Amino acid sequence: MNQRLNVNIDHVATVREARKTIEPSIIAAAVICEHAGAHGITVHLRQDRRHIQDKDISLLREVVTTYLNVEMAATTEMVKIALAIKPDSVTLVPENPNEVTTEGGLDVASNFEAVSLAIKDLRDAGIFTSVFIDPEEKQIEAAKRAGAQQIEICTAEYADLTIGAKSSHSAGLERATEEIRRVRNAAQIAKNSGLIVAAGHGLTYRNVAALAVISEITEFNIGHNIISHSIFVGLNQAVKEMINAISNK
Ligand code: PXP
Repeated sequence: MNQRLNVNIDHVATVREARKTIEPSIIAAAVICEHAGAHGITVHLRQDRRHIQDKDISLLREVVTTYLNVEMAATTEMVKIALAIKPDSVTLVPENPNEVTTEGGLDVASNFEAVSLAIKDLRDAGIFTSVFIDPEEKQIEAAKRAGAQQIEICTAEYADLTIGAKSSHSAGLERATEEIRRVRNAAQIAKNSGLIVAAGHGLTYRNVAALAVISEITEFNIGHNIISHSIFVGLNQAVKEMINAISNK
């Protein structure tokens, strides 16, 4: 089975915001990704608005014809925006103002009330709701109890073990294999409890195939590696190469 690929285009906005100008266009990026075969577009509306802006989400809602997934913190402000714009799905993520990127999954178990309230409001408005969590049984169980329809397994730990020096040590390889087991196990538990399973964070052309064989995973959300590669080969080609990497061609 081939997983769906949602391309996270936050970094197109990161470049634009470096100059606070109008290019590169996030809308052009979304259209190119879709034409290249992406199954959806993912963006993260951060509370600090460091890349994606509110206007981007509204414009994307009008333009994206495949699937629009918006990542956000489980706050009243963010839920209000989602209810107004109605993306196809919302992925609830943790947010720390000083982080470079999302650091690990959302602790649904410890933030149960805020997360379940957000999920209820989103689902009542017909928005498909996913939570980004670490591959832990406790979090899967909390996500299910909170009413999420999907979990996105945070693959940051696995991804980290596949880059640079760590990936060439046998101890690093063993740990990466152990992480794949952890992701597979979490995906199976989640699927058995009726949740749909996605995965993402830190995935690359090189490390995605080892997770793509996990049939319980139906969707990947990948950004940094695709946008980085697109600088050299163009976005159309970069998306196509990732689709091929996922389908192991
Ligand atoms: N999934 C979630 C929930 C994320 O927060 C991010 C990063 O915004 C990604 C996937 C994509 O991660 P990366 O840019 O490392 O591919």
